[in-house]
Amino acid sequence: MTPVIAKTRAELAAVRADVRGTLALVPTMGALHEGHRSLIRKARQIADVVAVSIFVNPLQFGPGEDLDRYPRTFAADIEACAAEGVDLVFAPTREEMYPEEPQVTIASGQMGTIVEGATRPGHFDGMLTVVLKLMNVVRPDLAVFGEKDAQQLAMIRRMVADLNVPVRVVGGPTVRELDGLALSSRNRYLSAAERETALALSQALQAGADVAPGGPRAVLGAARAVLEKAAVLEPPLDLDYLVLVDPGTFTEVDDRHRGPAVLAVAGRVGGTHLIDNIPMQFGSPEES
Ligand code: PAF
Repeated sequence: MTPVIAKTRAELAAVRADVRGTLALVPTMGALHEGHRSLIRKARQIADVVAVSIFVNPLQFGPGEDLDRYPRTFAADIEACAAEGVDLVFAPTREEMYPEEPQVTIASGQMGTIVEGATRPGHFDGMLTVVLKLMNVVRPDLAVFGEKDAQQLAMIRRMVADLNVPVRVVGGPTVRELDGLALSSRNRYLSAAERETALALSQALQAGADVAPGGPRAVLGAARAVLEKAAVLEPPLDLDYLVLVDPGTFTEVDDRHRGPAVLAVAGRVGGTHLIDNIPMQFGSPEES
């Protein structure tokens, strides 16, 4: 069944008032793929009513980033939502979300300046601002985000805790192509040759995970070896970062680390910015 589509806050509020039971929100920027669909299915399992927001948020794109060419596939997105049994789609215009240039925005703090935040200054401020606005407008009980954007998920959890936002944040696992490439709306920018190079990201993460019993240094060494080979491919992978971090704070762990960690990588292939990560555990869970 086609979901109810609300394009304004007023339309949304009218539909929201009639919702009975729990509501889960899956915030997206559209260009929905199987990764989003798995988040929608997760939302379906844990809530009575499922809402998807579709909004390409200008605030989280820096100068020179791909705001203008970011894929907009509204008709296909609605079909995907219908196929997944989504009840409500909130698809505001830029003017509806930002009637005026916002004066007050969320500051993502020190955590917003490291790892992905160092590569994309201001990105996490803009992302947290729109996520809080969407939560305020839709008023979900739960919100579901992909673990592929692991730092984003950690920062949203932190914002919700720091600001006492009454929403339960739920993560959903990364969905991959059969050859390991993590699904991303930006994958559609890649030529066949660029896609081949981009595979090095997931291969590096897997190489690192395979040697996790050897400790953090072994993990980083194995992953780096894969990425070094990809740096001399044609087209090359331009590495932005490879880090092994604490999943909650995204600060780097040292070689003595015991407990959970995330190996995160980002790079550019032919101008397309791609990120990926893999969770891992050092020592037994009881030690952490
Ligand atoms: O992950 C995304 O697609 C976006 O960052 C989000 C969470 C929808 C905010 O614009």
